[in-house]
Amino acid sequence: MFILIGLSLAFSIDCIKAAEFMKTIPKGICTDGYFQCANHTICVPQHQNCDGKDDCPNGSDEQACDDQHDDEYYDHLFRKNPAAEQDDWSGNICSFVYNGTCQCRNEDLYCTHQNLDSVPDDLPSAKIYLLDLTGNNFKNLTPESMKYLSEPVEKMMLRYCNIEEIHERAFFQLQDTTSLYLDNNYIKFIPKNIFPIRNKLQLLSFMFNHITKISTDAFANLKHLIELDLRSNKISEIDSEVFEPLVNLKILYLQKNAISHVKVNSFPNLPLVQLSLMENKINEMDPGCFSNLTSLKSLFLSTNRLTELKNGTFANLSSLEALTLNNNFIKSIELGVFEDVPNLQSLKLDGNQFRSLDKRILESSLNLETIYFDRFEMCSGAQHVRNCYPKGDGISDQEHMLANPVLRTCVWVMGAIGCTGNLIVLLCRRFAPKTNIVHSLYLRNLALSDLLMGIYLFIIAAGDSHYRGVYLKFEYNWRHSYTCKLCGFLSTLSCESSVLILTLVTWDRFISVTQPLARKQPSMKMALVTLITLWCFSTIIALAPLVDFTKEYFGEEFYGNNGVCLSLHIHEPYAKGWQYSAAMFILINAFALVFICYAYFRMINEIKSSGVACRSTRQSQDTDKVAQRFGIIVITDCLCWVPVILVKIVALSGISIHQDLYAWLAIFVLPINSALNPVLYTLTTTIFKKQIRKMMNSCCRKGADQQHTATDSGFSLSFGVFPIRGSTKRILGYRGTQTSSLTGSKTSCKRSTAV
Ligand SMILES: *[C@@H]1O[C@H](CO)[C@@H](O)[C@H](O)[C@H]1NC(C)=O
Ligand SMILES: *[C@@H]1O[C@H](CO)[C@@H](O)[C@H](O)[C@H]1NC(C)=O
Ligand SMILES: *[C@@H]1O[C@H](CO)[C@@H](O)[C@H](O)[C@H]1NC(C)=O
Ligand SMILES: *[C@@H]1O[C@H](CO)[C@@H](O)[C@H](O)[C@H]1NC(C)=O
Ligand SMILES: *[C@@H]1O[C@H](CO)[C@@H](O)[C@H](O)[C@H]1NC(C)=O
Ligand SMILES: *[C@@H]1O[C@H](CO)[C@@H](O)[C@H](O)[C@H]1NC(C)=O
Repeated sequence: MFILIGLSLAFSIDCIKAAEFMKTIPKGICTDGYFQCANHTICVPQHQNCDGKDDCPNGSDEQACDDQHDDEYYDHLFRKNPAAEQDDWSGNICSFVYNGTCQCRNEDLYCTHQNLDSVPDDLPSAKIYLLDLTGNNFKNLTPESMKYLSEPVEKMMLRYCNIEEIHERAFFQLQDTTSLYLDNNYIKFIPKNIFPIRNKLQLLSFMFNHITKISTDAFANLKHLIELDLRSNKISEIDSEVFEPLVNLKILYLQKNAISHVKVNSFPNLPLVQLSLMENKINEMDPGCFSNLTSLKSLFLSTNRLTELKNGTFANLSSLEALTLNNNFIKSIELGVFEDVPNLQSLKLDGNQFRSLDKRILESSLNLETIYFDRFEMCSGAQHVRNCYPKGDGISDQEHMLANPVLRTCVWVMGAIGCTGNLIVLLCRRFAPKTNIVHSLYLRNLALSDLLMGIYLFIIAAGDSHYRGVYLKFEYNWRHSYTCKLCGFLSTLSCESSVLILTLVTWDRFISVTQPLARKQPSMKMALVTLITLWCFSTIIALAPLVDFTKEYFGEEFYGNNGVCLSLHIHEPYAKGWQYSAAMFILINAFALVFICYAYFRMINEIKSSGVACRSTRQSQDTDKVAQRFGIIVITDCLCWVPVILVKIVALSGISIHQDLYAWLAIFVLPINSALNPVLYTLTTTIFKKQIRKMMNSCCRKGADQQHTATDSGFSLSFGVFPIRGSTKRILGYRGTQTSSLTGSKTSCKRSTAV
């Protein structure tokens, strides 16, 4: 009995599930997130559409990728100005019998830049197509200014004419004009009664003026007007009554004004098709504020100050096909906002503050073809949209954590180099002679901190191969996982401690070279205390973003901002905790870098100047070698840090960084120092080579040359360079060997500077 009930229950639940499933399948044969190739039964996943690679047999996945609405809008916005329309025409013959002040071409007259204050009185007595008065000096436009205009003019341009005021009846002569351009003047106010009652105006442009107010009746007679351009003015309020007479208006540009509130009755019943409110200061839009604009197809609201999208904002916009909401401050989107715009095809939501998208928000927009987000992972909330941007963030894409195959290999290689190199150093330095314990200790700590970077890279590499092909599904969990936090911690700890220890090593060398006698070798205890302090400091820096009581400042994604869990924050330079990230990557690194460069140049100078007294070629060769080696050390430090610092500063200054650069910076440049440090500071030093040779030889020949080698190791270890003889040896070989060098009778050159 129970079993039967259970079975039937299970069955009915299955049925409901199946029904739901059927509903969510879009038209065609592919499941959600997949799209059918044209004329084929093949399905390709969302991210393979429009990614620049043909995945369908006839490449249909790469077709229809352009955002048609966007293209049309910009094509229209940046169309040729009427004076240039005929530039391509072959004939330049004047169609009139004309001998006057203006230049004539076909039926156009160009009276530009002649300091005119009214229309010239010698115009031909025939219909003029274009009268271009650009660059004159009208100041006040009165009926007088147009006095000599007796014949009809089709298009009239009054750009850059210093117009400050338009008087009533100013355009009463323009009964046959269809286009009037008044751009780039100083008009503050559009008065009433300036256009004749019977007019044919279709296009009226007031771009780049200082208009703050428009008289209620200003456009009263413009029944034929199709396009009104009020770009770049200072309009702060939309007055419904102003636009009410424009019964044929299709295009209205109000971008770059000072509008802050779109109210319920802002727009009267207009047949508008395109409305641009870009680059205003809109922070509030009342629900239903566009509901009189039922034929609207494109609505541009980018670069405003919107913070939320409320249900009903786009009520009655059932014809809307393109909507841009990019570059706002949108944090929250109510579930039903887009229910009113079922025909939406293109939607821009990038440059906003929300970081995750509820699947239900776009459920009803089944006609969406193109959508833009800030982050590729938001595409998982829009699986039915064929064309979702961005496709990736340079490091990851929807498929893989590390999108670039070269990068994928690089992580393993860098990780391997970093780990083996530093492990060898750690092990070998352990068995190295004990002549310069302190310096050896420093270098072992450096190796340890660099080893952490190697481990970090291995974890990333492992994560990448684990999520290969299915990254999008697990992306959120990965970025918020403890592993990712550990990665962020490790990389930060490694970076900071490595930088600090390098600085310490440099300081140590610097003091010993510049003041070989003034300072005694720091005791083991002192060195240990310094190192422990450095490690604690780095640990605190790396751990701070993970502690509970700093959550407020760092947010949830300080480390988990990207797939490789790095807090470099190049793409979103002002993400939460950006000051911290900037201080970490710019301040500390830059200070360390400047100090290291300065110290090494001083040291090289010191060595060179002390070598002047000696004429031995052998010695100058050695000096060159020291200089070379120091140079390499400084250059690799620069190579690693300068790009990071520069890119970080550039990103903070608001310039967008190419996403590939970010990936290479994170995977290749940042860890390169960690991989190279063991090579530079230990593995290529003569002492190390000697050590290896000695180890190999030791089985055959034990104890030979013990004394000599120990002394030599002292030098090499202390400055990590090829052993140097003569005066340099005396200068550089400071600790432990200092006394013996000074008393050594072999050396003949006296050091003149610091002693
Ligand atoms: C599609 O490609 C196939 C070959 O792969 C070709 O035979 C066919 O004509 C193509 N169809 C169209 C419409 O281009
Ligand atoms: C699909 O087939 C139709 C007609 O058979 C053809 O016009 C169209 O170009 C084809 N599309 C592709 C992408 O092959
Ligand atoms: C054009 O006008 C100038 C004076 O403005 C005159 O000297 C010239 O003869 C006129 N040319 C013709 C073809 O009428
Ligand atoms: C629609 O336009 C009419 C005037 O044509 C106006 O009275 C009304 O307030 C407008 N409605 C909305 C919701 O804006
Ligand atoms: C606009 O939408 C409202 C409901 O939000 C409806 O009552 C009204 O009739 C619609 N107006 C037009 C012109 O479609
Ligand atoms: C917005 O509309 C959706 C769907 O119609 C509804 O679920 C949601 O509760 C509404 N939100 C508010 C704040 O009214």
